[in-house]
Amino acid sequence: MDDSLLLGSPEIDAQHRALLATLDKLKSTSQSKYPEEALSDALSDFGSQIFQHFVSEEALMSQLAIPAPLQSEHRKAHERILEELTQIHFDAMDGKTTDLPDIIAAVSIWIKRHVIEFDLGLKPYVADKSSSPRSAEAPGDRMATETPRSS
Ligand SMILES: [Fe+2]
Ligand SMILES: [Fe+2]
Repeated sequence: MDDSLLLGSPEIDAQHRALLATLDKLKSTSQSKYPEEALSDALSDFGSQIFQHFVSEEALMSQLAIPAPLQSEHRKAHERILEELTQIHFDAMDGKTTDLPDIIAAVSIWIKRHVIEFDLGLKPYVADKSSSPRSAEAPGDRMATETPRSS
């Protein structure tokens, strides 16, 4: 994986690397005739791998000081990817998918595009969190809205 795609979170970076490796493997296997069952298994495995990744990434997002609209757009993008993958899986099982290598190549492209358009947006927040763990609290906002309690 290209270093420019790294976020600085070892867990998420490793998952991105693993996802792209799985897609590369699928791409090379699908060049040859792919038995239907093996194809279904491969798509299921990829589906659960990416689902687990989204769970981890969304857990990370909730720990970072990311504006709510940005988080919700990002989560929606994850949902769309999962829906499209499910559709691809159904179509493949129905025999509607005629050119699997093309589909795998297209999936690789949109996963990379998602990393560039959405995941890389997390990079400054990840850097912020690792340089100063308390910066996520946005103390300025809190002080402006909270009335100090007398004790
Ligand atoms: Fe993402
Ligand atoms: Fe991601």
